[in-house]
Amino acid sequence: MDFKTIIEPFRIKTVERIRLTTPQEREVFLQNAHFNPFLLRSDQVIIDLLTDSGTSAMSSEQWAGIMRGDESYAGASSWLRMEKAVQDLTGYPYVLPTHQGRAAEHLLYSRIGGPGKVFISNTHFDTTRANIEFTGALAIDLPISENSHPSLLHPFKGNLDTALLLENIEQYGSENIAAVILTVTNNSGGGQPVSFQNAREVAEICHNHGIRFILDACRIAENAWFIKHREPGFEDLTYREIAQKMFALADGCIMSAKKDALVNMGGFLALRDLDLAVQCRTVLIITEGYSTYGGLSGRDMEAIAIGLEEVFDPDYLHYRIKSTEYLAEKLHALGVPIMRPAGGHAVYADARSFYPEIPLDQYPGQVMVCELYRLGGIRCCEIGSVMFGKYDSGGRLIPAAMDLVRLAIPRRVYTQSHMDYVAETFAELVKHRDKKTGYRIAYEPPFLRHFTARFEAL
Ligand code: F0G
Repeated sequence: MDFKTIIEPFRIKTVERIRLTTPQEREVFLQNAHFNPFLLRSDQVIIDLLTDSGTSAMSSEQWAGIMRGDESYAGASSWLRMEKAVQDLTGYPYVLPTHQGRAAEHLLYSRIGGPGKVFISNTHFDTTRANIEFTGALAIDLPISENSHPSLLHPFKGNLDTALLLENIEQYGSENIAAVILTVTNNSGGGQPVSFQNAREVAEICHNHGIRFILDACRIAENAWFIKHREPGFEDLTYREIAQKMFALADGCIMSAKKDALVNMGGFLALRDLDLAVQCRTVLIITEGYSTYGGLSGRDMEAIAIGLEEVFDPDYLHYRIKSTEYLAEKLHALGVPIMRPAGGHAVYADARSFYPEIPLDQYPGQVMVCELYRLGGIRCCEIGSVMFGKYDSGGRLIPAAMDLVRLAIPRRVYTQSHMDYVAETFAELVKHRDKKTGYRIAYEPPFLRHFTARFEAL
């Protein structure tokens, strides 16, 4: 029998209290946070959908692993376990542990970046772009055109446009392209999956032009689910086998273990090339820690080794993807414009279409984020002109391609009733859709401004 109810394939052993705030309290909290939910305290939030990163609930097996963690400075058994888990999964011989994904990005991109260098991706995640631009290099996003039409259905909207890739190689010269980075799933492009065929074509182009091909693999298990269910020829492979085939196409990977390794902290860089690994390892030891722990405790590494196994459990992945789709379909039914089909780790609402009368330089995405907090205590993140906007020489905003709001779903944390509550909050939001004004930015730092920017209501 095919049950409709998506049951969470786990029982709950420990619970964490949620403090239920009132709308009056939230109004004060929001003002004190300068209308930037990143500046809220977590106990002021009812449902926290800010990120799926580092917010997973660990399993009893992982907690057992935590007790087993070997905290030796060098050659800890927990490190050897993590190293083997990464090697078995990726096939890459050289593994460098880091405290999170962006540290791995820093190790690699600071070595291969620099002025005059070019990086090409389906879409660079914000820390990826920042790490690249910080070296003086150029980061170019080449998602397929379907990606910028939120309501247009396409099975692999995260794909990289290979025709444009070839044009850009021609334009910049292959010797100047430091790497092509395929982010699976494509987080900033709506959490959309990348097909195996697209990855294979990108690999071939890179190979033919002698360009390094790197996977940003932090959600590769979720990406494998989509390949198995949407791409002909993969029905009979396991999710893990699909991921392994994808790793086999590339020269290395960056991974934030805070996503599909189901842990609260950790990451790694894994490479095929010994020379490059040695160069990165030097930076690792200077900035993160010794090469057998990076920035990690032994117990973290133990939990990563276990998480990298657990994430490929078919029951888990089915529940994961289906529960994201469940929320997406509820919002769609309410008439909320969302990125469709739903991605793996998050639902992305299209705030620009939701609030057509709010000018883009008043940040419709930020309006939606603030309203969801006011109405339901939901915290989520703007992925639009606050995060990616730039200014022209006259100081006018150059808006991002889209103004999305991301409802990122922590792994194994919330139940179906929590998602029903989120949908109910959206039903309220729909009633107050006629907003005409938004916010102005009162303070912003030069890089990654969305984290600390302060806003004023207009
Ligand atoms: N790459 C991708 C695709 C990511 O989504 C992230 C983090 C990183 C790299 C950096 O990893 O946080 O461990 O340093 N994404 C989080 C998010 C922050 O909310 O999407 P990190």
